[in-house]
Amino acid sequence: MKVFTTQESLKEELKKHSGKTIGFVPTMGALHRGHTSLLTKAKTSCDVVVCSIFVNPTQFNDPKDYQSYPIQIEEDKKKLEEVGCDLLYLPNDVKDVYMNEKEFNVDLGVLDQVMEGRNRPGHFKGVMRVVKLLFEIVNPTHAFFGLKDYQQYLIVKKMVDELDMGIHIVGCETIREADGLAMSSRNLLLTFTQRQVATTLIKTLHYCKDHYTGSNIADLEKRSLAMMQQYGEPEYFVIRRADNLEEVPEGYTGEVRAFVVCRIGKVRLIDNLQIN
Ligand code: PAJ
Repeated sequence: MKVFTTQESLKEELKKHSGKTIGFVPTMGALHRGHTSLLTKAKTSCDVVVCSIFVNPTQFNDPKDYQSYPIQIEEDKKKLEEVGCDLLYLPNDVKDVYMNEKEFNVDLGVLDQVMEGRNRPGHFKGVMRVVKLLFEIVNPTHAFFGLKDYQQYLIVKKMVDELDMGIHIVGCETIREADGLAMSSRNLLLTFTQRQVATTLIKTLHYCKDHYTGSNIADLEKRSLAMMQQYGEPEYFVIRRADNLEEVPEGYTGEVRAFVVCRIGKVRLIDNLQIN
């Protein structure tokens, strides 16, 4: 795997691969099997696989969260080698990513006003800024995003459509621990007891799936939220259309998902599941 700390050097390397399919996996590092599953998927469908590791300051609405974000570059590089990543963009400062930024505007409609958009002001603006810049640097044909961060996946897809960037956005299934907990860098911050309590997210999502009938949705949301409140501090538990995150109308036949965010101690965990 070749490592590039400046966008100029990466672009120079990418010139050698013109005409090939380029699969791109943007990350913030502290890689686990959730991340490597995206790289494996990229590897099976693209000629060249590029990963970026960059803890993007503009998407953290809480400065403490940014300061304490785990950094494990050497372990990450080993994992990337193991899955056959070809090129790694590892910028050594924020300026290298942001130096050519131009203003842009994408109308996200409801996508940025609900769930994470409402609870983490400015978060998705920061995600869009960095993902657009990374796309301009790497110029991929395909980019791979986890469905664990479902709202992020929809927002990136919408941005690519609106700006006509011509990149195929591939959504990849959530990778889970044996007991169902979605893999996340934040799981490392849980104590032994909290780690056990954390399974309440997936248990509640399954409860919701088992009881979903397409009607009395508000009641099912309330019951699921109450279930979560016994163990942690849920921020929200909502049932939404998977295509646009709007409320589910009576008789809706398209895909429906349940979305949850819950604090277990100080750790904020996020998960979602298709329920129909
Ligand atoms: P990060 O949290 O490092 O996640 C990088 C990618 O890995 C995202 O697409 C995320 O959805 C995916 N991912 C994380 N946990 C996963 C799991 N358990 N199963 C499957 N995929 C999983 O998301 C970001 O970074 C940033 O916002 C970024 C897009 C890099 C922009 O800064």
